[in-house]
Amino acid sequence: MITSQKGTRDLLPPETRVFGGVERTARTVFAAYGYDEIVTPIFEATELFVRSVGETTDIVHKEMYTFTDRGGRSVTLRPENTAGVARAFVEHGLAQKGTVEKLFYVGPQFRYERPQKGRFREFRQIGAEVLGAADPATDAEVLLMLFDFLGRLGFTGLEAALNSVGTTECRPPFIEALRTFFSERDESLDDDRRRLRENPLRILDSKNPGLAQLLSDPGLPSMLDFLDDGSKRHHEELVRLLESFRIPHRIEPRLVRGLDYYTRTVFEVTSRELGAQNTLVGGGRYDRLVSDLGGPKTPGIGFAIGEDRLVDVLPVATREAFLGQGGPQVAVVPLAPGDVADAMEIAQELRAGRDGAPPVRVDLDATARGPARGIRNAEKKGIRFVVFVGEEERASGEFPVKDLRTREQSRVLRRELAARLSA
Ligand code: HAM
Repeated sequence: MITSQKGTRDLLPPETRVFGGVERTARTVFAAYGYDEIVTPIFEATELFVRSVGETTDIVHKEMYTFTDRGGRSVTLRPENTAGVARAFVEHGLAQKGTVEKLFYVGPQFRYERPQKGRFREFRQIGAEVLGAADPATDAEVLLMLFDFLGRLGFTGLEAALNSVGTTECRPPFIEALRTFFSERDESLDDDRRRLRENPLRILDSKNPGLAQLLSDPGLPSMLDFLDDGSKRHHEELVRLLESFRIPHRIEPRLVRGLDYYTRTVFEVTSRELGAQNTLVGGGRYDRLVSDLGGPKTPGIGFAIGEDRLVDVLPVATREAFLGQGGPQVAVVPLAPGDVADAMEIAQELRAGRDGAPPVRVDLDATARGPARGIRNAEKKGIRFVVFVGEEERASGEFPVKDLRTREQSRVLRRELAARLSA
């Protein structure tokens, strides 16, 4: 038997309804904030991620699905979507429009990680990016939209951990301070010596549990003490806006995030149910990414939600509601081969919705050929109503409708079926 690859999974019905419900909600909420959808390719030039996400990050260092294609090009399955969005922004000259681009995406990403609860090699992200706006109000509105979305899904008690990583100009003295701090405590570093050499910032988001004590040392330098005036004002204004809009947040001076393109604002949302290592949402500002990729100087900010993790911790009521929003509501069962054409016609009438009745989702069960099988099939599929179409029913114009929840059966006129079944 050929099975799915390690770290990938099939999403089967009815679970796909939950993913569908989450995505519909995202589309509705993001549209309300003026965002439009962007779709970028699943694979890109490897160089794109090396230059944007950064060579010393875990993602580029050891998690990318990189291969040489038949034409000898090095390509990579996208480990995230911000780089692709920025590349598309540059490639299509979107900066020349002179407007602020507000974009969202939904789709699979790929990272060669050790699979565990909430961590996959193929996973889905729902993300949003704003390109062309540098002001803290944009950061605040991005977070407002994120919490609006999470609230619509029924989440309560989540909060964003917030920090500023400053600009590339004010970061070197901070990195130096970190290097000094960690060099003096070299013995606890272990696997993180490479990070110390290459980029000490990466130690701050190390997943190595042995570092916990070191990272909670009160002497650990804080980026907030190294911010330039502009970054400091940006951070303070953002915090003020978050407070006035009551967006739940806490300042987390150790937060740096595992991607190199961030400048100033960074944030994450974690959920206790996911465990400490698993973040639900990550995001931040990237004011140099577009120009680093050869485009005009264009500030940007965005976030990505791990959809698999989001579905995993979705409030039960929301989950139930999404499960109820899909799947057939009615099975139409022709009792003999001669009844199939009429049964198909009735199914079409119900699907179209009639005389003001809303459309009904109908499963035509042409295989049952009898009431008992028809009922059994419907039960297996979780369908509530079964309509039987036989010769006698066709002649009388009245059709038996069985409600499998109450076990009651009644006869309903053909023209009243739609109204009765959508009630
Ligand atoms: P990230 O923090 O690398 O940021 O990923 C965002 C989210 O994707 C994570 O918080 C997590 O929920 C989910 N995720 C990441 N890896 C996995 C995995 N192996 N399995 C399941 N879920 C996973 C980014 O990707 C940035 N592009 C976010 C961003 C957008 N920053 C600015 N704009």
